[in-house]
Amino acid sequence: MIEMPNLWTRRKIIGTLALAMSAPGAFAEQLLLTPKQTAGPFYPDHLPLDTDNDLLVINDAITPAIGEVTHLSGRVLDAKGDPIRDAVVEIWQVDGKGVYLHTGSDGKAGRDSNFQGFGRFLTSSTGEYYFRTIKPVAYPGRTPHIHFAVKMKGREKWTTQCYVKGEPRNAKDGVLRGIKDERVRESVLVDFASIKDSKVGELAAKFDIIMGFTPTDIGH
Ligand SMILES: [Fe+2]
Repeated sequence: MIEMPNLWTRRKIIGTLALAMSAPGAFAEQLLLTPKQTAGPFYPDHLPLDTDNDLLVINDAITPAIGEVTHLSGRVLDAKGDPIRDAVVEIWQVDGKGVYLHTGSDGKAGRDSNFQGFGRFLTSSTGEYYFRTIKPVAYPGRTPHIHFAVKMKGREKWTTQCYVKGEPRNAKDGVLRGIKDERVRESVLVDFASIKDSKVGELAAKFDIIMGFTPTDIGH
């Protein structure tokens, strides 16, 4: 059981965002595009009452979800490294017991009812998104992963998944192995790194999503 503060303040979110943002650097002419991956069958069939970006606490509940607290952030960029703002980023993943927020999920009777299972965030002018969630765990047939959907006006919903770098089960995961190019496959492996000085063992994970078009295509 992990102890964590009950209050999740805006100040803390902004502080964490500042930490998570990387220094601006020179981009190569074309960034490696994030591979599109299947949404799978477990996008919530009934969205939770709370769809904010804090998956650890549902509305004003007192009991947080079980799991390793992770600050998951990144940017949605075009191939030139320019930010894509006002994109809706959605994530969904199993709870600490390997159960999805979906009526068809195995083990749903034992689901962690304190885990939101799904969250949404609108990217900022810098293309940044942020979620507070748990480090993903495995479920039968899959290595740990987090599903992402990116929704933009005038475009079809686009989905991918990110994975835990160094996780031994990655080597046997069919979806991950389906990405044949090694460099592209590595681009979806994310470091879940301990946050220095975190007294409760929180982790930070950063996953940039590089889309294969430029924002001018959508009128920005
Ligand atoms: Fe999945």
